[in-house]
Amino acid sequence: MTKMLRFDAEAARKTEAAYTTPELVAQRREVLRLLALQPGESVLDIGAGPGFLAAEMAAAIEPGGRVFAVDPSESMRELARSRGAALEIRSGSAEALPLPDDSVDVMHARWAYFFGPGCEPGLAELDRVMRPGSRAFVIDNDPTRSTFGGWFRRGYPDIDPTAVERFWSTQGWTRTPVDMGWRFSTRADLESVVRIEFDEATAEAVLAEHEGVEVDYAVNLWSRGF
Ligand SMILES: C[S@@+](CC[C@H](N)C(=O)[O-])C[C@H]1O[C@@H](n2cnc3c(N)ncnc32)[C@H](O)[C@@H]1O
Repeated sequence: MTKMLRFDAEAARKTEAAYTTPELVAQRREVLRLLALQPGESVLDIGAGPGFLAAEMAAAIEPGGRVFAVDPSESMRELARSRGAALEIRSGSAEALPLPDDSVDVMHARWAYFFGPGCEPGLAELDRVMRPGSRAFVIDNDPTRSTFGGWFRRGYPDIDPTAVERFWSTQGWTRTPVDMGWRFSTRADLESVVRIEFDEATAEAVLAEHEGVEVDYAVNLWSRGF
């Protein structure tokens, strides 16, 4: 999920539908395991979107922890509010985090802003808000693997996976490949999410070639300590 920088209510709703598939529920559990959250920690979810993972993180850091769910989209913040979890939902962006210096133990950002070259302003903000001894995790698509990765290469030919990998490793981040997938309840749900993800020509081309309601999907988990 890459191209959307602004979410209107309809796009936010369709995106939320994609997040409730069993595969994404399982992937959130795997990500939670890798984050290894501890009670009392302060967690920052940048580009938290509809807030599914943020809500699960809030349960993991009780008692005494806090989860700050930051997103520039009011539609997304509204969906996050509907999770009913103890989230501190804030308007803001990766480039201008609404948090004080040295205040975060764990940062997570999935499919949001941190896509490699160009995200230096957000990385500078991380240097400011992350506490000494804290850890950060970024999840992005892996265009080198999976059916979805092939679609991604077609939709975003200017993104060079080698340059992206070099960018993260030069900044001291480590890559962990993670496999996941989408399985929608209806073909219409799959089609609407593909049409959000890609421009019209790419979306129609991949939908014409791909049958059914499932697609395998590979991501990279980038991590580093501060
Ligand atoms: C594809 S959604 C991912 C949502 C969520 N991280 C997840 O995986 O469930 C991308 C989110 O990034 C947010 N976003 C866009 N530009 C951003 C920025 N500059 N800083 C932080 N978040 C941003 C969008 O509003 C949207 O909610």
